[in-house]
Amino acid sequence: MAQSAETYPRRIAIFDTTLRDGEQAPGFSMSVEAKLSMAKALERLNVDVIEAGFAAASPGDAEAIARVAEEVRAPTICSLSRTIESDIEAAEKALTAARRRRLHIFLGTSPTHREAKLKLSTDGVLREIERSVSSAQGRFDEVEFSAEDAIRTERAFLKEALECAAEAGADILNVPDTVGYASPEEIYELFRDLIASVRRPEGVIFSAHCHDDLGMAAANSLAAIRAGANQIEGTINGIGERAGNCALEEVIMALKTRQDYFRADTAIATKELFAASKLLGELTGQTPPRNKAIVGRNAFAHEAGIHQHGVLEDRRTYEIMTPSDVGVPSNELVLGKHSGKHALKARAAALGIELGADRLESVFTAFKELADKQREVTDSDLCALISGQTPGEAGWRLNRVEIRASAEARMNPFARLTLQHSRRGRVCEIGVGAAPFEAIFNALCSATGVSAMLDNIDVASASGSCRAEVRVAADGRVFVGAGEDPDVIIAASEALVAAFNHIEFARGASALAGAA
Ligand code: KIV
Ligand code: ZN
Repeated sequence: MAQSAETYPRRIAIFDTTLRDGEQAPGFSMSVEAKLSMAKALERLNVDVIEAGFAAASPGDAEAIARVAEEVRAPTICSLSRTIESDIEAAEKALTAARRRRLHIFLGTSPTHREAKLKLSTDGVLREIERSVSSAQGRFDEVEFSAEDAIRTERAFLKEALECAAEAGADILNVPDTVGYASPEEIYELFRDLIASVRRPEGVIFSAHCHDDLGMAAANSLAAIRAGANQIEGTINGIGERAGNCALEEVIMALKTRQDYFRADTAIATKELFAASKLLGELTGQTPPRNKAIVGRNAFAHEAGIHQHGVLEDRRTYEIMTPSDVGVPSNELVLGKHSGKHALKARAAALGIELGADRLESVFTAFKELADKQREVTDSDLCALISGQTPGEAGWRLNRVEIRASAEARMNPFARLTLQHSRRGRVCEIGVGAAPFEAIFNALCSATGVSAMLDNIDVASASGSCRAEVRVAADGRVFVGAGEDPDVIIAASEALVAAFNHIEFARGASALAGAA
C-alpha cells in the first residue's frame, strides 16, 4: 500500500516502566545499583522514556530515580506520582538532575476505584485531576496523566476526566487497562473514539498501558497503535504486576517485522533487546521461559528435522526475523529426537568432521537411540558417537567439587576437583582464583593440561534448579558448555567440564575426520 513519506512509518514512542511497574511485582525488586545498570541498558536500547520509579513510595525509590536522572542522559526520566502535593514534590526533587523530566500522575476513574478505593464522587475525581495537573505545570518538562482502570470507566466520564487533564496542561493522556481485561477489538474501538472526540490542545498525545492478565497485553497495545496511539508503555520481558505488563520486545519487533501492516515503527536499537532481557534476568534472578517470544532461549532454536532441514537450506523457511535483529548471536539447531540427518551432518561439519554417506547412516542410528533416552544430544555426545565411544563415558566427568572460601579478603578461594577421564582415569587437582568459579576453572586447566581463558559465565536459577552456561576460549575458538543442578557450584562445574570436553573433542576432530 503506497504511503506518503510523512505518514509512513508513524513513529511510536516507547515508555519503559521496567523499573517501576515491573520492579513493584513480587520477586522482581532491584537495588539502586541494579536499577542504574538496567537504566543504562534501556538507554542503549534508545527508549524514549524511562519511568525510573515512584519517588514518594520509599527513600530507595527516590534515590534510584535521582541516580538514574544523574547518569542516564538520553531518554526522558519519569517518576510516578499520586495526585497529592507531597508526591509531586518528591518526584520534583528526585528528578532535579534529569536532562528532561516527566511527571506521571495517576488517579482511578472507574466506579470500583472511585467508590471502593478513593471514596470520591466523579466531581471529586475531576477536582483532584485539575488541581494536581495544574500544580505540576512549569515544574516538569512534560506531564502525563493516567486514568487508572480506564477500561472499566464509564465512557462519558473517561472522556470528561481526560479532557480535564488536558485542559489543566497534561501533554500525554494515558489509557491503562490496569486489570488486563480488554480485548484487541475493544481497545481499537476505544482509542478510535477517544482520539476522535476528546477535546485537547494540539500536540497532546494518547498512550496505551496494557496488563497481561488474559495474555492480550501485546495484542492490545498493537491495537491501540493501529487506532492512533502514539506512545506504548510496557516492560522488558513483560515483567510487572500480577501477570505482568505488555512485553515491549514483542510490540517493538511486531512493528519492525510487520511494518507493512502496522505502518508504524519505533526508534529502538533492536539489536540491544536480547542483552537488555538477559541483564534483567541476571539482576532479578528471573529468566524468561524458553518459549518466550523474541528473547526466550527457543525463540531462534530448532529441533524438528523438517524445520532444521528448512533452516539449513534457507533460514526464512521457519524464521521471520534474524537472530541478529534482536542481538542473539546465531540461531541454534538443537540436536534431539526430532532432528534429522541434515542437522546431524551440519553439526558434525561445524565440529570439523565431514561424515561420508555410510558413516552418516551408522552414526545417525546410534544418535536416534541416544536421543530417545536424553532430551538433548550435545557436541560431546556426538563426538563420542562418531568415535565409537559411549556418550557420557567419553572425556571428563565430574566426581566431586569442594570449595573453600574465607570472608577475609587476603585469602583467595580454592577449589579441589575430582574428575574421571575415560582413558586417564581418576584425576584430582586444586585451583586458586579470585572467585570460586575462577578457582574451579584453574583446577580444570591443571587437570586437563589445557591452556584456556574463561570468557563468560552465566548462572540463572528457576524453580529450585540452577543453569550455568560458560564460554571458554582455547585454540583460537570459543567453546560453550552448560550444566544444571540445584547447587550453583555443581551446575557451574558441570558447565566448565562440558566446555573442556568440547575442547578435547575438537582437538581430536581432525583425526576423526580422516577416519570418518
Ligand atoms: O496499571 C496501571 O493502571 C498503572 C498506572 C499507574 C498507569 O500502572
Ligand atoms: Zn500498570
